[in-house]
Amino acid sequence: MNDLDRTETQRQWRLTTANSEYVVSLLPDGNGLVLDHWGRPVAGDVDPWWNPDRFYQKAVIPDSAPLEYASAGHRHVGFSELLVDRGDSLTGALFHCADPDSDARFDSDASGSRLVVTFTDETGDLRLTLITVTSSTHDVVTRGIRLENRSAERTVTLPRAFSAGWPLPVGPTARVNYFAGNWGQEFNAKSVDLDGATLSVGSRSGITSFETNPVMVVESSVPGLENEAFGVALAWSGSWRLQAESTTTGDRVRVSGGIDDDTTTITLLPGESFESPWSLGAWSKNGREGVSQAWHEYQRGTLARTLDEEHRPIVFNSWFSTQFDVEVTHQEKLAEVANRLGVEVFVVDDGWFAGRVDETAGLGDWRPDPVKFPQGLGPLAHAVIEKGMRFGLWIEPEAVNPDSDLYRAHPDWVYRAGNRPLITRRDQYVLDLGRQDVVSWIEDTFRTLLSDAPISYLKWDMNRPVSDGGRPGDPHGRQWSIQHTAGYYRVLRMLRTEFPHVTIETCAGGGGRIDNGSLALSDVVWPSDGTGPRDRLMIQDGFLSAYPQHTMSSWVTDERGLLDRSEVSFEFRFVVAMAGVLGIGSDLLGWSERQIGRAAEMVNLYKSIRQIIHTGVVTRHGRPTDDVYAIEYSDPKDGSGSVCLLVWGHDRGTRFDGEETRVRPARLVADAAYRIRGTSTVLEGANAMSRGIVIPFGVARDTDVVIFDRV
Ligand code: DGJ
Repeated sequence: MNDLDRTETQRQWRLTTANSEYVVSLLPDGNGLVLDHWGRPVAGDVDPWWNPDRFYQKAVIPDSAPLEYASAGHRHVGFSELLVDRGDSLTGALFHCADPDSDARFDSDASGSRLVVTFTDETGDLRLTLITVTSSTHDVVTRGIRLENRSAERTVTLPRAFSAGWPLPVGPTARVNYFAGNWGQEFNAKSVDLDGATLSVGSRSGITSFETNPVMVVESSVPGLENEAFGVALAWSGSWRLQAESTTTGDRVRVSGGIDDDTTTITLLPGESFESPWSLGAWSKNGREGVSQAWHEYQRGTLARTLDEEHRPIVFNSWFSTQFDVEVTHQEKLAEVANRLGVEVFVVDDGWFAGRVDETAGLGDWRPDPVKFPQGLGPLAHAVIEKGMRFGLWIEPEAVNPDSDLYRAHPDWVYRAGNRPLITRRDQYVLDLGRQDVVSWIEDTFRTLLSDAPISYLKWDMNRPVSDGGRPGDPHGRQWSIQHTAGYYRVLRMLRTEFPHVTIETCAGGGGRIDNGSLALSDVVWPSDGTGPRDRLMIQDGFLSAYPQHTMSSWVTDERGLLDRSEVSFEFRFVVAMAGVLGIGSDLLGWSERQIGRAAEMVNLYKSIRQIIHTGVVTRHGRPTDDVYAIEYSDPKDGSGSVCLLVWGHDRGTRFDGEETRVRPARLVADAAYRIRGTSTVLEGANAMSRGIVIPFGVARDTDVVIFDRV
């Protein structure tokens, strides 16, 4: 008999999602929760998928069990999500749930399930609570921990306190998909077949980072289940780490993640507690695309405050046309053309505030520059509003230039590592949002700005990593990234509560702070400064793997691109930006009358399909580097609505005349008839899906928009 006697009565809980079941049980000795099943709902009893005897003769049970959460001290040789240091030279802590009747709480009904199990360590001072929540409206499992120090005199530190471990039943050599990238090239999709090794990605910069992103998708290698895939993400906008470990047990990949353990040590003084950010898990039987759709469904239904057009409007943004050279008459002229195009919000980007002539000055002095705006922002804002648009503004509230009144008045407000020299990046420092006075000052800055001028759109930027995080002498100083993120969230919450009419776009030098945490408190996000159309298509394709189109701010600009500089049509640029929340960033005063007319037509076309674009299920066809790439947006509910296909190809003029480009839509209703909008062609769903439809390239020689209306 093995150490784990399965004949003992085990406490097991079955949590349901929209299409799956998540089953966990308590180890018979009460020392941990294990994952018994995650996938298709099971009729009858659930047999555990792991076998303690099979692989690990030399290890004790906690090292081979698919623990939901492991603490060093319980686990001995395997990776542990929790490291506890009591300063007594012992490793970790052993947590135990003695009485599930009183220490576990399970609620489950038609809307979803919630399991909360509390464990106490061997000293009786530490209480660890594991929380697992599911909903019947989507396929995302939400997990997190709470750790409480109930000692009256002992301080403990936590060198690592991750949010969750996910023992994924995917077989030994599963494919792990993740993102790697850089400024202007975010969301580069990468993958590795992990075989007996560990892959770790993360950020130590105090923000999510554009180099990588807190989400992974693991594809199963179990025979017969190759179409299954699991996603793991973190809802966290500070420093973080996610690691995937292909364990030597040969049956799983363990993904663990939470707040970064390199740069963060959490201190729990007597009576203090810590709550981790949420870790999210998604399961799909339809591979990676199915996991993307599961994320989107969750983000649409749970994170978005509304899907209304009010908070995902068509924006004109001044950055590419004006840079720091903001001038009222020039902005008014841009607004004139933007209005003719059908733009809904005119946003003045960087360059409007006191002393901001270039990168070196002004950050922190958030009042209109007296030279550029002698009468404040009012006249420009009103000129924009009189035209029928809303007025918006860029701001970078966490940043300060050494050359600013704010820094001269409060040099102590920036992060500084003791006596080490301060480091500038883009000529700026970062304000310490762990200080409540600094956060209150940011809140008041917003209150003043938003009451002084009729601003209803804010783009919140953050252009540098935190390099000097910490607060010497503060016992919680090594938690600076947690505190910074909490301060950021506090201000975003304040904006939502006190200024609900203001749309929030988050940005960090491009896509440096995009995650499920920032998505929950903003309306749209700026995925990248890379706006060259073919580069952008790659970035957006990556973005859509993890985040939804209704948050994907995208502007038409005149840029060529960093990687692929090939020429495309004017319309191609529009259709790229129409794939999410359309915006325009071009120098409109350089456009010809013909371009302005065509742009207005494209904006109109977008308005006619915007609802299905923002709320539809996204299915991608091919890769942006293929000869033809398409995104299909289909009705998420019953398929009764229109289906829209955005298509990008290569120049038809360079091809053999008779060559046809076909795309096979995937989510039409098989026995329904569809008319292709603008034509008399009527197709049967099943036929169109099996044979594909010929793309006429009616919009331009390299792009098209095909709309299937149900008849
Ligand atoms: C970085 C952003 O990504 C850009 O769009 C622009 O707002 C600049 N910052 C302004 O400094």
